[in-house]
Amino acid sequence: MTLENNREINILNSIPKMIILELDINDTIKNHYGDTSNIKIDNNIKLNSLIDKENNEKIQLLKNSSKQIVTVNCFNKEYEVTLKNILNDTYIFYFYDITKYHDVEVQLKQSLSELTCKKEELQALFDLAGNGISILDKNGLFLYANKFFQDMIGYTMNELYSKSCISLSSEEYRESSEVAVEKAIKYGSIQNFRKICITKNGVKLNASMSLSYLKNRNEIIMITSDITNDMKYQEKLKKQVELEVSKRTEQYEVLCHQSRLAAMGEMIDSIAHQWRQPLNSMGIIIQGLKHLSNNNELNSELLKEIEEEIVEKIIYMSQTIDDFSTFFLISKKQEYFNILKSIQDSIRLIDVQLNHNKIKIKTNIQNNINLEVLGFANEFRQVILNIIHNAMTAIVDSDKKDGLINISISSNKNKITIEISDNGTGIKKEYLEKIFNPYFTTKDKGSGIGLYMSKIIIEHHMQGNLTVKNLKSGAIFTIELKQ
Ligand SMILES: Nc1ncnc2c1ncn2[C@@H]1O[C@H](COP(=O)(O)OP(=O)(O)OP(=O)(O)O)[C@@H](O)[C@H]1O
Ligand SMILES: [Mg+2]
Repeated sequence: MTLENNREINILNSIPKMIILELDINDTIKNHYGDTSNIKIDNNIKLNSLIDKENNEKIQLLKNSSKQIVTVNCFNKEYEVTLKNILNDTYIFYFYDITKYHDVEVQLKQSLSELTCKKEELQALFDLAGNGISILDKNGLFLYANKFFQDMIGYTMNELYSKSCISLSSEEYRESSEVAVEKAIKYGSIQNFRKICITKNGVKLNASMSLSYLKNRNEIIMITSDITNDMKYQEKLKKQVELEVSKRTEQYEVLCHQSRLAAMGEMIDSIAHQWRQPLNSMGIIIQGLKHLSNNNELNSELLKEIEEEIVEKIIYMSQTIDDFSTFFLISKKQEYFNILKSIQDSIRLIDVQLNHNKIKIKTNIQNNINLEVLGFANEFRQVILNIIHNAMTAIVDSDKKDGLINISISSNKNKITIEISDNGTGIKKEYLEKIFNPYFTTKDKGSGIGLYMSKIIIEHHMQGNLTVKNLKSGAIFTIELKQ
């Protein structure tokens, strides 16, 4: 091909990305056209002096028609080469520059391989995840489930394809599962939806699931955790707590019982004191009766007088017993009771002993205050008796001649305050922290439960406060109750 016409040569030279080489049968370049601006090609040189052996061999494949097109690297670029054999002694090679396409292809291949890697990573992540991960269609049908989910539920992926997540729920959870799928689609996601699934083996599985709706794909990602063990653990924990509570209740009941026994001991002491005097008087009356009868001085009038006196004493004694027996009743429910009356009831029980020890009680009540409190009256009486009894012991121990217990009641902003102070020994500094502890006592025959129970009654049963302070002489116990 010899092109004499300049115009045609110009056209050939202006084809972008194209080099045309005209070779004879000996591969000697006869003419060259096209975009050769950056390449030095001379006519009458052999092709293999321009192109390396390997690429040259590829080009030769075109000549024997074993390939229609080959890709070669030459002139620092990548070319697609085709051949046109015109006449028998002339070969026209078309080198089309595909460097750019090649770069794009390389990039594409790289992206594809990265994508494959990512997919594999994701797959591994799905399969190694410690949760069941599955993808559902908008009706809840399984499109994919990771290994963990398959193992958890016992179905293989093939078996899952025909199933919906709703059908795996136990009967009572079918409806709520359906609602969960609908809600996930409507609101984008739902978290920690709990239900019972039935595995392929028919085992019940407590599951917690979170569903996220992928709007663009119209699919749902479902993460499932098996919480059967958690539930068992929680159940165990609950039982342990219940056991602990019941142990504590038992312990508390034992303490209550002990405290009542201790109080009963003190009570019997009080009864003995309270009965001593009327019993003595009745003994004297009976002796007098004998004397009167021996002297025939007994007339009906005198007998009536004696009878009245004896009946009065018996009433007093029986009243004492009634007082003590009510004291030992446990209040069943909270009721409104009068603080002052309860304090007086308690004082009455110990009155004889206080008199015996020449201890005075003074009560000081703020004017016009509401003395009604909601709580357990009997228990409250027990607290007051404990505190007064302790005060009495402290006064006796201090050898004070003018023993005095002051009780003051005041009220402020729906809070009633009862202060019981004595002029006894006071409490040693190092004991102040301990006197409310169970079994703490400084007394030979003390049980050390009185104040412990008092604190529980006031603070736990009646939501109040019981505190103690030392005074210059003696101690002061303060009870605060809500009204
Ligand atoms: N008013 C007080 N003055 C001085 N010490 C007190 C006073 N009240 C309590 N205590 C001290 O607190 C201790 C504990 O009192 P608590 O009533 O709990 O038990 P107890 O009186 O020793 O025994 P119990 O009441 O069971 O017979 C007493 O042993 C005593 O040392
Ligand atoms: Mg006591």
